[in-house]
Amino acid sequence: MSDNKFTVDGSSAIVTGASSGIGRRIAEGFAAQGVDTTICSREQDNVDPVAEEINDGDAPGRVLPIECDVRDRDSVEAMVETTVEEFGGLDVLVNNAGAVFKCDFNDLSENGWKTIVDINLHGVFNCTHAAREALQDGGGSVVNISSVRSQEAAPHETHYGAAKAGVNNLTKSLASEWASDGVRVNCVAPGFIATPGAVTAGDTDPADIDRSEVDRKTGTTAEIADVVEFLASPAASFIDGEILTVRGVPPHSEDPK
Ligand SMILES: NC(=O)c1ccc[n+]([C@@H]2O[C@H](COP(=O)([O-])OP(=O)(O)OC[C@H]3O[C@@H](n4cnc5c(N)ncnc54)[C@H](OP(=O)(O)O)[C@@H]3O)[C@@H](O)[C@H]2O)c1
Repeated sequence: MSDNKFTVDGSSAIVTGASSGIGRRIAEGFAAQGVDTTICSREQDNVDPVAEEINDGDAPGRVLPIECDVRDRDSVEAMVETTVEEFGGLDVLVNNAGAVFKCDFNDLSENGWKTIVDINLHGVFNCTHAAREALQDGGGSVVNISSVRSQEAAPHETHYGAAKAGVNNLTKSLASEWASDGVRVNCVAPGFIATPGAVTAGDTDPADIDRSEVDRKTGTTAEIADVVEFLASPAASFIDGEILTVRGVPPHSEDPK
């Protein structure tokens, strides 16, 4: 155990959607701090190499890769159960799995709408609800990942904006309900981040991009992971039910340097 309140060490976590991008970087950060971390995505073949790479390094935390679609309640429950069995409990849940496609509202099918709401909002419900007893057992913490699109117009992403706005409200409402259980629920709303899910700088691994390589309107995966680590750490013990916007510069800023 470290005396540093900004570390999440000595605990266990689940990070959903950690085969790439922001989730992968959060898992790397947790493992580096000594947090035993379950990572999931829809394909075992996508999470296995991530776990192997982290476990082969010198991070003190262990990473457990599990195939789990956050839309599927049975697989979510199995993931939570395995995590508790393997790591002896669950302290931190990061609801990061998400997806989007651009589409004019006029052309958006019911299936397209449902798919995006299912992954981005229902998935957060599934994971948080399945993990409730484990989290309440140890006074844990939830960090949801929404988007700046949740708080402003999201043209051509109406399904995504609506789903992420739901994540924000779920964060606040659940934080109120769970305050008496000692479980904090917060949310990070990123601006544009260089990830495989967005546009990346050439062939560079997004996890390796640093601030000097991107403009002030483009964030790195580390700049989101750092905030997630802070919210999950004892340093944020007095922060509950908050949506923390992480976007580099305020909206409509001109030519930031
Ligand atoms: N990048 C940005 O600019 C940005 C901005 C604001 C918010 N965000 C949010 O940040 C989060 C991470 O985004 P990212 O940019 O890092 O995207 P990414 O690189 O595409 O990563 C998305 C992750 O989610 C997983 N995933 C997708 N659907 C899933 C499902 N149904 N069940 C389980 N895992 C699933 C993917 O794994 P598989 O494909 O292997 O299943 C992948 O690991 C998302 O919630 C996104 O909405 C991103």
